[in-house]
Amino acid sequence: MKAPVELFERPSVLRPAGDAAQTIAGLSIELMVGAALIFLLVMMLLAWAVVRSGAKPGLHPRWLVYGGGLVLPTAVVTALLIHGYERTPAWQPPPQDDALIVGVTAHLYWWELRYRDPVSGREVVTANELHLPVGRPVRLGLSSADVIHSFWVPALAGKVDMVPGRVNHLLVKASRAGVFRGQCAEFCGEQHARMALHVVAEPPAAFDAWLAGQGEPAAALPEPADVPDPPGAPPARLQAAELVQGRQVFLEQRCNACHSVRGVAEEARLGPDLTHVGSRLYLGAGTLANQPANMAHWVAHTQTVKPGARMPSALALEPAALRALAAWLSSLK
Ligand code: CUA
Repeated sequence: MKAPVELFERPSVLRPAGDAAQTIAGLSIELMVGAALIFLLVMMLLAWAVVRSGAKPGLHPRWLVYGGGLVLPTAVVTALLIHGYERTPAWQPPPQDDALIVGVTAHLYWWELRYRDPVSGREVVTANELHLPVGRPVRLGLSSADVIHSFWVPALAGKVDMVPGRVNHLLVKASRAGVFRGQCAEFCGEQHARMALHVVAEPPAAFDAWLAGQGEPAAALPEPADVPDPPGAPPARLQAAELVQGRQVFLEQRCNACHSVRGVAEEARLGPDLTHVGSRLYLGAGTLANQPANMAHWVAHTQTVKPGARMPSALALEPAALRALAAWLSSLK
């Protein structure tokens, strides 16, 4: 098993990639600088008091008691309140007409994403990797299918709880391209820590192409009979046969009881939609880098890699069948 490749920027409130995060970053710096200055002032007063206490023990100057104990804290807290209030975004701002709409539903322990694009009219279901067009407002509808989770992508905005039975809204706009890591920020169970979300912000044209691709059904299988079979060297044909076998294993093992692959089996809603699983950066909601070897490892040893995940380990699968299944899933770009 290979360690996850870090394809994303390390999450930091101080490296914003969106308007809301920019405000939070500014406030964070002001708070840290302000706190450092106050700390310095208090230390200087303490030093002064220690030096003077030898001379007049038990005597506190009046200006220190009233000034430092009442006037200064009242002034600082009032200034912070006004400053913070001015920067608080309007309560649930109405989305612009062209805003992309994404329904994000948290599950134990993964993210379901439903896109609705009023411009192109496309509706697409995917999982665990949120793509955003740079510069375009995106309205997120955040909910949960089971327990309380919390949506947090530090580069984009602050945390918003995801509560079963209600939809909380968050308006985000990516200001630059990049891959940003998000994390469930409300303890939800055993694998709360491995409930990561990756945000891929890309130029609008690249996003439109991505959304169009995600809206397509799963990649068609090559027909083994149609693949030329040069004497003595049949790797292409073997590969095609393996993909066909992989799809068969998917159906025989009833993976489709939980997972949909559009164009193959589309009824299930319990697990992530796998129609284009091969195109994603990670497996298991940010747990493993998406490579064929990791795909096989993930399917066979889910409960070792992510104990408590809702998918059982496919320990009984023959090595050849497992390889074929992993190859087919990885081919679903
Ligand atoms: Cu979901 Cu913590």
